[in-house]
Amino acid sequence: MTNPPEILETKRLRLRKPVLEDADEILRQYAQDAEVTKYVSWRAHRSNDETRDFLRGCLEGMESRKSFHWIIDRKDDDQLLGMIATRVDGHKWELGYVLARPYWGQGYMTEAVKTLVGWALKQPEIYRLWAVCDVDNVASARVMENAGMKREGVLRRWSIHPNVGDAPRDSYCYSIIKDLERRPLSKGAGQSGKRKAHV
Ligand SMILES: CC(C)(COP(=O)(O)OP(=O)(O)OC[C@H]1O[C@@H](n2cnc3c(N)ncnc32)[C@H](O)[C@@H]1OP(=O)(O)O)[C@@H](O)C(=O)NCCC(=O)NCCS
Repeated sequence: MTNPPEILETKRLRLRKPVLEDADEILRQYAQDAEVTKYVSWRAHRSNDETRDFLRGCLEGMESRKSFHWIIDRKDDDQLLGMIATRVDGHKWELGYVLARPYWGQGYMTEAVKTLVGWALKQPEIYRLWAVCDVDNVASARVMENAGMKREGVLRRWSIHPNVGDAPRDSYCYSIIKDLERRPLSKGAGQSGKRKAHV
């Protein structure tokens, strides 16, 4: 079973394992912000206890290898900017991410997603990285496009955003996959090919 690194570094960011002590900063920076939480699948937090419970869930997920979560810190000043996570389903890993509002639009999430995708596609057991975003979540769609993911289509009535309403909304589905580079079969030879990232 693939075991992701506890720390992943990008040029400006350090992705690291969460600790319960991150709760205060997560709450202060973004978890109760109505704009940040508009298109996420979880209810905005109202207290430090809720954020700690959420972090406990993240750590349990990591313990059972069902999901992996990283806090995104800026290397320059150790400022906590957000989180990025993957949910594991065999060879398919689903991405999710969130960034506090003051840090939007500076390319941080594109940088984080590119690095995580780059790591994942080098792993023999991971063949597909994918994620959904609300059809109106332009920034999230752009992050995935910038990270080399391809829009596969619209999943109608797919996602409920509890901070907006109960009715499921349409989502774009994006993915990047590891594919076989197919070569023409020569007579008597089996199919050969090497794996490469394929958008
Ligand atoms: C989605 C999110 C993570 C993007 O992070 P980010 O670091 O600001 O993204 P980047 O700076 O890498 O920008 C990616 C693109 O989105 C654009 N963008 C960033 N913020 C935007 C906004 N508020 N509105 C429209 N476009 C925006 C950038 O200009 C860039 O576009 P470009 O490549 O065409 O220049 C961030 O907006 C966020 O946390 N949103 C709330 C949580 C969320 O929606 N998570 C995803 C759930 S699917």
